[in-house]
Amino acid sequence: MSAPTDEGEGQSLERVPQALSTREAWLDPFDWYAEMREEQPVRYDQNRQCWDVFRYEDVDRILDDPETFSSNPRLASAIDLPPEAEQSPILETMLTADGERHGRLRGVVEDWFRPRAITQRAERFEDIAADLLEDAIDGGRMDLIDDFAYPFPVIVIAELLGVPSEDRPQFRGWSETLVETPTDTSEAALEAFRQRQEQASEELAEYFEAKLEDRARDSKDDLISVIAEAAGEERLSHEEALGFCMLLLVAGNITTTNLIGNAMRCLTAHPAAMERVRTGEAPIESTIEEVLRYRSPVQALARIATRDVELQGMSIEEGDTVVPWLGSANRDPAVFDAPDQFRVDRAPNPHFGFGRGTHYCLGAPLARMEARIGLNALFERTADVRPGGERLQPVRSAFIYGVQELPIEFRPRDDAESPPP
Ligand code: HEM
Repeated sequence: MSAPTDEGEGQSLERVPQALSTREAWLDPFDWYAEMREEQPVRYDQNRQCWDVFRYEDVDRILDDPETFSSNPRLASAIDLPPEAEQSPILETMLTADGERHGRLRGVVEDWFRPRAITQRAERFEDIAADLLEDAIDGGRMDLIDDFAYPFPVIVIAELLGVPSEDRPQFRGWSETLVETPTDTSEAALEAFRQRQEQASEELAEYFEAKLEDRARDSKDDLISVIAEAAGEERLSHEEALGFCMLLLVAGNITTTNLIGNAMRCLTAHPAAMERVRTGEAPIESTIEEVLRYRSPVQALARIATRDVELQGMSIEEGDTVVPWLGSANRDPAVFDAPDQFRVDRAPNPHFGFGRGTHYCLGAPLARMEARIGLNALFERTADVRPGGERLQPVRSAFIYGVQELPIEFRPRDDAESPPP
């Protein structure tokens, strides 16, 4: 079977599959994934005009072969990018680049994100977490997302980039708009949505334009200076430099917010496991890996086929969009024992939560450290953490996975109570 192209409209990641369009389904898409892995492991979705791929072995194959499965959306036959979007700096990033160009872009900041470089900043990150929690812990109840899981990574990435963290309400607006998925798919609503995205992208570009100019004149110990220097030496074009800043801001906050939020969603649903982690009986590191597998903050990616290729007997044609479902691969029983069980000490755990291959998440060491510091800081200051009882709402995105608010209740821990080891 090949991909029909005469029907449907829209970009694959702009919409969720029909089966996941309700609140409940997108909060827990895992039964549907299981059905798809079994019955239609590779299927074409007319509505979204893309292939969906659900099994671990196929997701692995796609991410491991960037020559056949490109990250450049401009190669897609079903996506007509409007001219203004064609020039958007957000399309000039390493995320959407292939081959040598990808290596050149990633090379500019790679050293900054290595575990050793990141670990040096641990103490500063612990202080940021402590300050935020001092305000949030008081009453025995908080919205984990608004009070902690959102501001924490934003302050961290703002400091690394070298922009004032007081600007974070603006960052949030821009980032959320850029990863949003429209729920109303009428022509008028889609047009309004596209305009909103374009405006957010322009505003964010203007914001970073000024910062890059500033650092070109006066270099500091921050990422914007590294990017401005590479632009000054013409290792990056102007658009690429802007895209760089935008990517780091957006990729570095919404995802980590959802890792911390999803971790607490998993742990409050499994109080015995939470106690084992809190007391140090189960390692926080393997707990975070299990959250990345069990409720992956990025559920799906997109690739474009650069040639005709077969997958599970299906004929994918050059220019077709292919969506590998990380969230489904991470629950594949062919690879994971009892995949629907949340096991904080699962080992081995070869999940795809940070992707795989050449585009493997650049920020993975940073995200892991933020999650570890953030969760430990919470455990030190709280006991008996439980859900706050409200109806959860999924994040409005077809690929980012988490909840908009996560009310929790807890007993603030007395200083006299011994902290976890
Ligand atoms: C829990 C948090 C995070 C998750 C789940 C996550 C997930 C991912 C995934 C799945 C990819 C692969 C995309 C692809 O193959 O198309 C990716 C790439 C990337 N991530 Fe993350 N990410 C997280 C945090 C961060 C942070 C904190 C940063 C940096 C500040 C970051 C920066 C990037 C960048 C720059 C790329 C593109 C790498 C490339 O194209 O070579 N991420 N991330």
